[in-house]
Amino acid sequence: MLSVLVVFYVLAPLCYARQVNITIDASNVVGDLPPVARFFGADEPNYATYPDGRVLLDHLGSLGPHQTYFRAHNLLTTCDPSDQTSPHRLKWGCTNAYTEDPSDGQPIYNFTIVDEIFDAYMENGVKPYVEIGFMPQALSTSPNPYSFNFTPTANPDIIFTGWSNPPVSFPKWEELIFQWAQHSVDKYGEEEVNTWYWEVWNEPNIPYWNGTEEQYFTLYDYSVNGVLRALPSATVGGPAVAGGASGDFLGLFLTHTINGTNNATGSGGAPLDFISFHAKGSPTFIDATDSVPAHLQMNMASALQNVDDAFSVIQSFHTVNHLPIVISEDDPDSLAAGVTPNVEYRNGLIYPSYTAAAFTREIDLAEQYGVNFTGATTWAFEYDDHPYFDGFRVLATNQIDKPILNIFRIFGMMESKRLEAQSTGQYPLAAVMTSSVRNESDVGVLASISEGGDKIAVVVWNYHDDALPKPDAQISLNISNAFVGGASGRVTSLTHYRIDQSHSNAYSAWKLMGSPQHPTPNQQIDLKMAGMLQMLQPPTEVQFENGMAGIQFNLPIHAISLLVFEQ
Ligand SMILES: *[C@@H]1O[C@H](CO)[C@@H](O)[C@H](O)[C@H]1NC(C)=O
Ligand SMILES: *[C@@H]1O[C@H](CO)[C@@H](O)[C@H](O)[C@H]1NC(C)=O
Ligand SMILES: *[C@@H]1O[C@H](CO)[C@@H](O)[C@H](O)[C@H]1NC(C)=O
Ligand SMILES: *[C@@H]1O[C@H](CO)[C@@H](O)[C@H](O)[C@H]1NC(C)=O
Ligand SMILES: *[C@@H]1O[C@H](CO)[C@@H](O)[C@H](O)[C@H]1NC(C)=O
Ligand SMILES: *[C@@H]1O[C@H](CO)[C@@H](O)[C@H](O)[C@H]1NC(C)=O
Ligand SMILES: *[C@@H]1O[C@H](CO)[C@@H](O)[C@H](O)[C@H]1NC(C)=O
Ligand SMILES: *[C@@H]1O[C@H](CO)[C@@H](O)[C@H](O)[C@H]1NC(C)=O
Repeated sequence: MLSVLVVFYVLAPLCYARQVNITIDASNVVGDLPPVARFFGADEPNYATYPDGRVLLDHLGSLGPHQTYFRAHNLLTTCDPSDQTSPHRLKWGCTNAYTEDPSDGQPIYNFTIVDEIFDAYMENGVKPYVEIGFMPQALSTSPNPYSFNFTPTANPDIIFTGWSNPPVSFPKWEELIFQWAQHSVDKYGEEEVNTWYWEVWNEPNIPYWNGTEEQYFTLYDYSVNGVLRALPSATVGGPAVAGGASGDFLGLFLTHTINGTNNATGSGGAPLDFISFHAKGSPTFIDATDSVPAHLQMNMASALQNVDDAFSVIQSFHTVNHLPIVISEDDPDSLAAGVTPNVEYRNGLIYPSYTAAAFTREIDLAEQYGVNFTGATTWAFEYDDHPYFDGFRVLATNQIDKPILNIFRIFGMMESKRLEAQSTGQYPLAAVMTSSVRNESDVGVLASISEGGDKIAVVVWNYHDDALPKPDAQISLNISNAFVGGASGRVTSLTHYRIDQSHSNAYSAWKLMGSPQHPTPNQQIDLKMAGMLQMLQPPTEVQFENGMAGIQFNLPIHAISLLVFEQ
């Protein structure tokens, strides 16, 4: 009896669910809900053509009604002769698109491998978000050393080699980009290539570009000129800087495109169709004692400050602040190809619940600034032939989707106008930006209504920065002014999807199997099923009286619910 009481006492704070009220007014449309969560990418371009990569591309290509895009580094990187056919390396990839004839130094363009990569996208309903880079060895001003072997324990700086340098000749570089764009138009057609993005380089404010700001602007001018010579209506942009506006870099870049001297054409300014930058969270390990190991603590505030910083700079440029903005890397931490000591974070529920809470805040920030937020790029893909659930920031492992992929399936169902929604458990935007989510959990909500008004989708998350047990949220959700216009007392179907420990969670399923590194064929089938977005319960009917209905449900820490009401 005594021990039971003691156990109850210890667990009691976790057992008491916290009451949270959510109210949605279905007549209160805030505006269009931008479908931002459909951009993905990776350092390593070649995995797109591997068997598991193709399966994952197919899943990304069918997330929802809006087009999915894929961005990859290294599309122009020169192969290491020792692994030309299968560049299975972290943070590396290559295509040999540009070499020079050893006898006369004449350029040799060969887009065979680039084509294989883009074909893999297109066959699976994904389009290229073309990142123009990196420098082929034959064009690099500092060509050696060039290839490298990154490992998660290596010094991250070993990756910065010959590919990061400016070209020996900007006109030769421009001709390569022209040939690439022309080849793309010849192969896929003008209409198709008009739907792609062409972005110049990656993070030119850090050693990804071993040159000055001015040299980046020159690279931009020549790259864009090459693309537009082949296809004048192509969509071009940059500067893909790391860390929000990156000091004055983003502002100087925008000024350059508006009225700087164009080094490629000699005219004023440079074409610009979209603006890109990067945002990253910064998790840490804290509170280690002699008896308790350190635990993971996420930091959403740093990512949101990057976004706030860049949006505010963009907004201040009146001639370009209507342009589409793509955050061309937008992640909870900064190294996909590294492993964190806490594998639960990327395999389990923290990653998707973080993403739900963070992307919604970024949409809020865009509304606040009145800027045109178009894409938030999740920099995560997959690595064929790696162990199951090995802790990299990937979306799938051995053709099994991790829980993170299901938040993108959920975002894919959020259509198409945003509805006003309030939660008593949601942190105000300013609070998350200042101090992330460190007190109670963030029980937040995002709601949408379809164009015709016959479908309302509500996503609710229970997020906290700490990878620690926390109370469930007991949600009471009221919708008003919904499905009015016909007879009162309307019956609507409710489908309740869920990501938690036992739904849409292949990682939990795999652990329940004993974490097999060689699952049987039947286990593999079960794991693939467990990786899909699942319902909490079979669809039910909900009675709306005078446009009102109420739903109660329990939401565990780091779990996510999607409720879809449909007439
Ligand atoms: C939730 O709503 C109920 C009923 O309106 C109210 O009694 C309760 O105080 C509310 N809880 C919170 C946390 O606002
Ligand atoms: C182009 O590259 C592919 C792939 O590396 C190679 O198989 C092919 O021989 C190359 N074509 C020419 C003409 O060199
Ligand atoms: C960067 O450029 C400088 C010359 O400006 C060169 O000395 C250095 O080797 C280059 N670094 C890399 C990694 O290529
Ligand atoms: C160039 O554009 C910037 C930003 O719009 C502006 O501040 C500056 O006055 C312009 N300079 C010239 C010479 O037009
Ligand atoms: C481009 O930059 C180079 C080197 O900085 C300079 O010599 C050249 O005059 C510039 N060309 C134009 C058109 O501005
Ligand atoms: C925002 O960008 C999209 C393209 O992504 C464009 O269709 C739309 O017109 C832009 N909105 C505004 C207000 O300029
Ligand atoms: C933390 O949450 C509790 C309970 O809602 C609240 O009373 C307290 O003011 C919060 N503290 C901070 C620093 O926000
Ligand atoms: C939700 O609706 C029910 C029934 O109409 C009402 O009793 C309750 O107070 C409402 N709760 C909130 C938080 O609005």
